[in-house]
Amino acid sequence: MSSVRIGVLISGNGTNLQALIDSIESGEINGRICVVISDREDAYGLIRARKHGIEALFINKKDFINNSDFNKKILEELKKRGIQLLVLAGYLRILSPEIIKEYRNRIINIHPALIPSFCGKGYYGERVHKAVLEYGVKVTGATVHFVDEGTDTGPIIFQKSIEVHNNDTVESLQKKVLEVEHTLLVKAVKMFCQGRLKVIDRKVLEV
Ligand code: GRF
Repeated sequence: MSSVRIGVLISGNGTNLQALIDSIESGEINGRICVVISDREDAYGLIRARKHGIEALFINKKDFINNSDFNKKILEELKKRGIQLLVLAGYLRILSPEIIKEYRNRIINIHPALIPSFCGKGYYGERVHKAVLEYGVKVTGATVHFVDEGTDTGPIIFQKSIEVHNNDTVESLQKKVLEVEHTLLVKAVKMFCQGRLKVIDRKVLEV
């Protein structure tokens, strides 16, 4: 089976991107990251990509008159490179319906909580862990899912929980959850590239 052409969208540090790069380089994932796109010029993930010889683009939303045109540009860059799988690795914007339609069940996102808790509009980054601590839940974790038109509502691929302890802080939770994210994201992308993820209605089956 030929390797899957992957595009990655990021907004920040890119440790999830790094986990993918490492797993591709080690041969665990049968894929190739053909482009990394960031909506932030200073995203460290762009440097990570370039260090590994991966094309890395900054697309500035301010250069476009509206969100739709900004997304059209992203879609154009993806299609130009024949991208087959799109991974959102810490990408903080909402994708347009055009991108979702074009890549139905071919966009994977990682979320730092157990969906459907602590997700949706406004739940990103540290805010998620802050909300987890404020609510006082005893478990949290990470979810990897396909992206649909909603915010964090698409079919769930994998989830893994961790315990929340009394002495946990936003930072400690973020660190523990991030480790889980890396494992889950790699596992999901690996299985996608093997053609082993099948979506039936809302359910993702391993085939
Ligand atoms: C992760 O927690 C991810 O789930 C969230 O943003 C963070 C990005 O981390 N959406 P990184 O940029 O991959 O290091």
